[in-house]
Amino acid sequence: MKFFIDSADIQEIRMVSQLGLVDGVTTNPSLIAKSGRNRKEVLKEICEAVKGPISAEVNSLKSDEMYTEGMELAKIHDNIVIKVPMTEEGLVAVRRFSSEGIKTNVTLVFSALQALLVAKAGATMVSPFIGRLDDISTDGMKLIEDIVRIYDNYDFQTEILAASIRHPVHILQAALAGADICTVPYKTLKQIASHPLTDKGIEIFINDWKKSQNV
Ligand code: E4P
Repeated sequence: MKFFIDSADIQEIRMVSQLGLVDGVTTNPSLIAKSGRNRKEVLKEICEAVKGPISAEVNSLKSDEMYTEGMELAKIHDNIVIKVPMTEEGLVAVRRFSSEGIKTNVTLVFSALQALLVAKAGATMVSPFIGRLDDISTDGMKLIEDIVRIYDNYDFQTEILAASIRHPVHILQAALAGADICTVPYKTLKQIASHPLTDKGIEIFINDWKKSQNV
């Protein structure tokens, strides 16, 4: 499973990129707003920091406007993937982008049937939002399992990108379900690297090593 970082904060993106933990980046309008920076500038810096797919979301609602906005974003770097919302207009734009070899990521997907349409439109990636489903007492991970099954049944090439990840167990479940990619906030990515028994084990070994030096 590939790891993407879900962030528009260039400092944290550089940090995890140095660790070699990141295969790509997803941004969205809220994350760009949180960065307090100009969208184009921040996307350019992200593309320089991470050599992998970088999702940049359009803010238009009509397919023609999505196309124009997406083509502008695509000029920033070859690794830009155009993130398009899961609407009928969005699917029209996806079809147009894919016919021109532009990669796409369809976002805000909350049902397996929406994901089926996304694959049929020829999208590169589909982003089912796990955490936001859990927030409304619906099993988000069941959605990933259903999409994996449908895509396997028909051999769709669209990659399943588990999004709206809130905690380490989401990552584990997405990996077990067979998601191709998991996009993870910085804090959660750091959480999965540590374990209290690892810390305790290191402490014991260091103390024992010190004792053995006195022999
Ligand atoms: C994915 O591409 C989205 O940017 C993101 O995962 C949304 O997560 P949230 O539901 O925590 O805002």
